[in-house]
Amino acid sequence: MRRHLISAADLSRDDALLILDTADELAKISERSIKKLPTLRGRTVVNLFFEDSTRTRISFEAAAKRLSADVINFSAKGSSVSKGESLKDTALTLEAMGADAVVIRHGASGAPHRLAGWVRGSVVNAGDGTHEHPTQALLDAFTMRRRLGPLDGRRVTIVGDVLHSRVARSNVLLLATLGAEVTLVAPPTLLPVSVGSWPCAVSYDLDAVLPKSDVVMMLRVQRERMNAAFFPTEREYSRRYGLDRDRVAKMHDDAIVMHPGPMNRGMEIAAEVADSPRSTIVEQVANGVTTRMAVLYLLLGGANLGGEDL
Ligand code: CP
Repeated sequence: MRRHLISAADLSRDDALLILDTADELAKISERSIKKLPTLRGRTVVNLFFEDSTRTRISFEAAAKRLSADVINFSAKGSSVSKGESLKDTALTLEAMGADAVVIRHGASGAPHRLAGWVRGSVVNAGDGTHEHPTQALLDAFTMRRRLGPLDGRRVTIVGDVLHSRVARSNVLLLATLGAEVTLVAPPTLLPVSVGSWPCAVSYDLDAVLPKSDVVMMLRVQRERMNAAFFPTEREYSRRYGLDRDRVAKMHDDAIVMHPGPMNRGMEIAAEVADSPRSTIVEQVANGVTTRMAVLYLLLGGANLGGEDL
């Protein structure tokens, strides 16, 4: 493993499998009544969030605490960032407090990469602009593997607002590393121009792809990042690219439905689909804690989990 986790492309197949296998071991501990391990006692993890988050922020905090690390939560709102303090000065302030790992979410693509040049500890990208969200891809792969077994040859369809989605890019990169076949389905206006160089196929016809899919991952339509009209109306988007009961009926019996959250219920996914037994959306949140525990454990010097830790 490298010192930082900035992009899913940083992970070799062996690195990714080591994280997923470590998360499997840690999941067993999460089922115990006492969930805490002493592994990162005396280490400090800083959660540095410049953008809103529910799942990622809480699960990194829970992950670090379950490994007995000291946790400092920093939110840009209410900090000296609102007085104009730069990312570099904020980072150096946290560095002075002895951070061993900095988990950063930032609206600017590339912010975690810059941060990695300024601090001595490990940097973990918790979502940067429209660029990447590698721990989301890891928890998604962990969830798929638990439901479906090894991912080699599995067909994963990712649907919706790919243009603004850091989740889509990280998933495509990681799933290709793990041997899955990924198809992106979106209106042409919601695909990045560079998509031709991504290791995946592209389709505009969701109904044609659904029967061949083992996994259908719906993406949130990110209206807050849209400064133009990318589709005629929400109703039209939903009709062409939304996952409702009729479309789910086209999927094979064991296929699963995923969504990274937060969801626009009734737009990209019908509420009854999100709440159905095929849906892994709640599992994804729980798996986020164990997967992020594995990432922190391995970045902060852990090897394979030894008996003394367990
Ligand atoms: N999936 C995800 O990143 O959710 P949050 O924005 O709530 O962290």
